[in-house]
Amino acid sequence: AQYQIAVVVGSLRKDSFNRKLANAIVKLAPAEFSFKQLEIGDLPLYNQDDDAQPADAVKRLKAEILAAQGVLFVTPEYNRSIPGVLKNAIDHASRPYGQSAWAGKPAGVLGVSIGAIGTAMAQQHLRNMLAYLDMPTLGQPEAFIHAKDGLFDSSGNIGPNSKAFLQGWMDKYVAWVKAHAG
Ligand code: FNR
Repeated sequence: AQYQIAVVVGSLRKDSFNRKLANAIVKLAPAEFSFKQLEIGDLPLYNQDDDAQPADAVKRLKAEILAAQGVLFVTPEYNRSIPGVLKNAIDHASRPYGQSAWAGKPAGVLGVSIGAIGTAMAQQHLRNMLAYLDMPTLGQPEAFIHAKDGLFDSSGNIGPNSKAFLQGWMDKYVAWVKAHAG
């Protein structure tokens, strides 16, 4: 594929709705796009003392981001912000100072929640971080997805009620990456 996208899921839970969403939405992308979910569950807790000798998991994370033409964040909301595991990954790949792997990578933000506001607060916090990290981030359409019956069909694809909306989101994301990939 011409465009490789690094997908970062903010939940480590086996049956995560956000992971299901990440698995399903990539099927709505054209063939010139390929997607790889990054492992963030094996990263150590970020400690600036380790900047000079990063763990193998950190080197792998940064290499996979650097190799990608874009990033897709799919995250739950925890206590009205992003989960700590996602912040930890963001911090790791942003350092050492001046050697951030995120800089310039076009980004998209998605999230699904069992709560009514569908990760809106978490996404807004995340957008703040992405702005600082110099990642051009798709602004519209916003996608605050409510986890309810029928969101996914029995094969794990996006269900009929959300399909057109999420196809529209993916079409915009694809165009955004093409416009902003270096
Ligand atoms: C939650 N949940 C939650 N939901 C929400 O809409 N807003 C919130 O602030 C929170 N806060 C929160 C904190 C913690 C620690 C947990 C474990 C959960 C509920 C959350 O939406 C639900 O657990 C989702 O299923 C998490 O996403 P995954 O793991 O299914 O992808």
